[in-house]
Amino acid sequence: MPHIVVKNYKKFNTPIQKDKFNFLWFAKPLKNAKEELVAVEYENHKFLLSIKDKNSEIVIKSDKTTRISPSTIIKKAIVNFCELAKCEIIRSNISNIDEKHLKKSEEFLKTIDFFEKSFPKNKEVWIEIGFGSGRHLLYQAKQNPDIMFIGIEIHKPSIEQVLKQIEIQKLRNIYVIDYDARLFLEFVPSNIVGKIFVHFPVPWDKKPHRRVISKKFIEEAKRVLKLDGVLELRTDSKNYFDYSLELFLEQKKVKLEVTKNIEPPIVSKYEDRWLRLNKDIYDIRMINIEKSEPLKIDFDFEFKKEYNLENIVKNFDTKPKVFDDFFVHFEKLYQIDSDRYLIKISFGNFDRPEHKYLLITKNKIEYFPKKPVLSRGNIKAHKKIEEILNGK
Ligand SMILES: C[S@@+](CC[C@H](N)C(=O)[O-])C[C@H]1O[C@@H](n2cnc3c(N)ncnc32)[C@H](O)[C@@H]1O
Repeated sequence: MPHIVVKNYKKFNTPIQKDKFNFLWFAKPLKNAKEELVAVEYENHKFLLSIKDKNSEIVIKSDKTTRISPSTIIKKAIVNFCELAKCEIIRSNISNIDEKHLKKSEEFLKTIDFFEKSFPKNKEVWIEIGFGSGRHLLYQAKQNPDIMFIGIEIHKPSIEQVLKQIEIQKLRNIYVIDYDARLFLEFVPSNIVGKIFVHFPVPWDKKPHRRVISKKFIEEAKRVLKLDGVLELRTDSKNYFDYSLELFLEQKKVKLEVTKNIEPPIVSKYEDRWLRLNKDIYDIRMINIEKSEPLKIDFDFEFKKEYNLENIVKNFDTKPKVFDDFFVHFEKLYQIDSDRYLIKISFGNFDRPEHKYLLITKNKIEYFPKKPVLSRGNIKAHKKIEEILNGK
């Protein structure tokens, strides 16, 4: 991670602009004063730099919660900060990076905001979950140029590798997202997906709650699939097959196709391994036979109630609050000045918690740097946050 280590720095008055960077305010924790944050605005990005005292050296780097990409912006912000703060630099790992390459991968690597705001609808969409080496995803995208592919993965080296291949193979019909597939379908409009591939998911025999296939996942898949759209599970694990088949059969109305040891159009890296070991391979295909209601989630994440700043500070409680399917955790309280505070907070779904800050002024509370994504877990958590801040 880009950082500069300094001996000391001088705090400057904010707001102040340098190059295109607007340094908005400093925030200091009420407890543990060894860390300070500085808010930065650059074009339409807002983020925080963290200034941490570590064994009498001060490390300046991006705050994890608000980190943005490309990292070039962060690097430039740190350099500008150091110039304004007249830092005595000890060492730095900030060097030039290939901006061109970054721009290219950004074209295909999307964040959840992209899908939340403007889900691609002008072409039929196929989704691959946990694409790994990407063999199947790349093959399908090449074979089907009129289909828009979305590849979902959480393993960063696999994502990098596939982004490189997209460039090398000059593919134009794949978006890649680093996101938990168990939650992604929540953002997909109803009845628009032709195929969902779940090939060789991690069996998680000891932690079944981490499995991609679940009752909720099957229901969401049914909602997003077009009529005759297919969810395809391929696995070498008899246990996962049995578990999934049972869940599919729990659906009220469903069409299923089960096959064993059928040759696929392309053999994935995992499949290769199992075939060499002569393992059986099972497929379940769920074919959607029902049209679903349109997706209707609309929520503004605004704080509308009256708040008492003094009470919020006085009653600040860092104990996590856990509910059936979401949680709220007020982690840390920072002071900006006598009228402004900042709260570090995590909340929402257990599998994909949202990490944010709340910027609290005398008459307004807002999320910093931006509102949470529109998921059901986040909506429930937001309502609870309002209640808590309101003293309930
Ligand atoms: C066993 S590998 C299979 C890869 C590939 N489908 C194949 O057949 O070669 C499972 C992949 O799923 C990814 N994965 C696991 N859980 C995931 C989740 N919740 N969301 C997205 N990807 C996930 C893992 O990172 C891993 O790359």
